[in-house]
Amino acid sequence: MFFVSVLRNALCILVPLSLLSSSYLYLYPVFHLCAFPAPEDTSNSAFLNTLRQHTLSSHNASKIAPFRLLALGDPQLEGESSIPDAEAATFPNFSKFWQDALLLNGTKHNPLQRLRHSLHDLIDFYLDDIPKALEVYRKRLDHVGNDYYLGHIYRTLHWWTDPSHVTVLGDLVGSQWIDDDEFEHRGWRYWNRVFRGGIKVSEEIASQPVEDFQDTRILGDDAPAWKKRIINVAGNHDIGYAGDISPERMARFTRVFGKANYELRFQLPINSTHTANHSQGLDEGSAEREEKTIPELRIVILNDMNLDTPAGSIEVQDETYHFLNEIITTSHEVTRPAHFTLVLTHIPMYKDAGICVDGPFFDFFDGDFSNGVKEQNHLSADASKGFLEGIYGMSGNEWVPGHGFGRNGVVLNGHDHEGCDVYHYINQSAPPERYWQAARYADAEAAGYEDEAGVIGLREITVRSMMGDFGGNAGLLSLWFDEEDWDWKFEFANCKLGTQHIWWVVHILDLITLGVGIAYAGFLFVPKVLPSSGKRKTAYPEGQRESRFAGSGKEKSAEEKE
Ligand SMILES: *[C@@H]1O[C@H](CO)[C@@H](O)[C@H](O)[C@H]1NC(C)=O
Repeated sequence: MFFVSVLRNALCILVPLSLLSSSYLYLYPVFHLCAFPAPEDTSNSAFLNTLRQHTLSSHNASKIAPFRLLALGDPQLEGESSIPDAEAATFPNFSKFWQDALLLNGTKHNPLQRLRHSLHDLIDFYLDDIPKALEVYRKRLDHVGNDYYLGHIYRTLHWWTDPSHVTVLGDLVGSQWIDDDEFEHRGWRYWNRVFRGGIKVSEEIASQPVEDFQDTRILGDDAPAWKKRIINVAGNHDIGYAGDISPERMARFTRVFGKANYELRFQLPINSTHTANHSQGLDEGSAEREEKTIPELRIVILNDMNLDTPAGSIEVQDETYHFLNEIITTSHEVTRPAHFTLVLTHIPMYKDAGICVDGPFFDFFDGDFSNGVKEQNHLSADASKGFLEGIYGMSGNEWVPGHGFGRNGVVLNGHDHEGCDVYHYINQSAPPERYWQAARYADAEAAGYEDEAGVIGLREITVRSMMGDFGGNAGLLSLWFDEEDWDWKFEFANCKLGTQHIWWVVHILDLITLGVGIAYAGFLFVPKVLPSSGKRKTAYPEGQRESRFAGSGKEKSAEEKE
């Protein structure tokens, strides 16, 4: 009876605690007020609109950006090869014990040697194999838990924020040095645990830049499929840095995660956008619209791992260079209005130390891989300039087409797990040598660089990693079309879950509650259901355990036993 009341009291605490903590975990975007930023609005009403979407269906559709990108950084799935002493789990000293004890491998030992060797093996088994094996099991459990933790972030945010597109900005797996089987296995975990329900961008959809581009899609068409597709970016841990990229590593990445270089183009049908001037005559409005260029979004998925030299595989580097050249030569005139270029890549652009957590850093192989790049934190200043002046057509010279303003857009990347928000700019009125500089976006915004005449710039957002150590972060990029300015506008927000420990604690608590609940139910109901109630335990020995603790008649029999 005492035991039952202990269980009951425990449940009084455990049930509400489990319910509260699980609601928090499963509704964390609600508690953290996460939502895709709404066009021309404060984050507060964006959240309320998302809330309305889930509850009343009376949400304001004009407050929802047509392009909502859920951007996740560096999941870095670890696996078997990152576990030290993984072979300990097969208990090698135990099999050695049998060998030495039974002389299985044909050695001729006298009985004393036999005993000595097998006792040694036994000690190694108990004091080496078993502790190491426990550690291996703990690591494996950790990896499984981590998969579901990351999967929880994706599933919960995907449900709550309703993205139109999803991207993972590189380092999908934790190491480029793993063998093909391990790569496949991590790929399986990626698609079946972390991004369950997600599908890779098929090769037919991943278009190559060509002069007469035919694959432009309408933003909003085929929406359910686009919502499921995961736009995977190749990172150094997936394919290697410039030094160790090989055609084989590229091939397995493409097979499991999709292509590393391609582009997507979307046009925004103008009648689907919100028209601000309802009061104006319809004829006047439509006539005005016909003359305007149709809004277009270009998404460039770029493997920037081998932009810098030297590269181990010239073949793969040529592929990247060729792709980049095609992207530049097939882009619209810089003066084309209503155009937005979104670059999704892995390694961030060059910036001086102190702006982001990672400063500029390069390391090269010495002797292997054609002395290629072994590691880098940023692209080189030249490669970054190529982004800004090539892809975006910006220039420090105002006497070029479009006055050097270039194309509207934003760059999203990962790599630096801490995340960063940067404004790259060049000052056309600073003579005589003009060069690209970078500042924290918040500082640039406060100083008004974006509005300063003669200052041209581009925002680069390095998305903080979704790993538990970095708080399980996710980026929410909203892009919408402003019909008054006839140009695209974007806004970015972060949403954090918190460390993986929260996920573990809540689920362990739930399991404990469930276990205690089942035990309590067992003690409460089983004696009432069993016909053995009230009879002596000797008649039903199998009912012994229940009868020891529950039912008043049973206490006596427990005492009798003692
Ligand atoms: C740009 O250059 C002008 C002239 O040298 C200077 O007054 C201005 O502060 C500079 N702006 C920025 C953002 O560096």
